[in-house]
Amino acid sequence: MSEIQTTVDSIVDQYQADPTGLLSVLQDIQAKMNYLPQEALERVSERMKVPMPRVAGLATFYSAFSLKPRGRRVINVCMGTACHVRGAPLILDTLERKLGIGIDETTSDGEFTLLKVGCLGACALGPIVEVNGEIFGQMTVTKADKLPDKLLKEDRGGTEK
Ligand code: FES
Repeated sequence: MSEIQTTVDSIVDQYQADPTGLLSVLQDIQAKMNYLPQEALERVSERMKVPMPRVAGLATFYSAFSLKPRGRRVINVCMGTACHVRGAPLILDTLERKLGIGIDETTSDGEFTLLKVGCLGACALGPIVEVNGEIFGQMTVTKADKLPDKLLKEDRGGTEK
């Protein structure tokens, strides 16, 4: 049995393979593996006796799920109206250039995935960038350019703001 199947089995067992727990199972797999591999979806379908189209449909419906591996940090650039008029496209351009990736792509070192999202509900602080639940408000091109390095430094215990 593969590692993915073992992981899926342990999660499915926590829900007694009850099909009503399908969404929770997918959330737990996403949390554990950072994405939903095809093999995992197939195993869920088999173990929970839910047809594959239904499992795949749920996995593609929610933007919180990813079918591709994501980086350790997911950078969400808000492109809602308020952030957009305050320069969000420039922020996005800056991050794309800095990271060398496009939207919905992940850096080759697996550190960052870049996404654009709708209004994050903190318009007064726009333009907003959110990283793994942390909000960075009043973003500027200069701050965006420094953000990836700042996040990496923080992880190494640095204090630079
Ligand atoms: S438009 Fe960006 S937080 Fe609302």
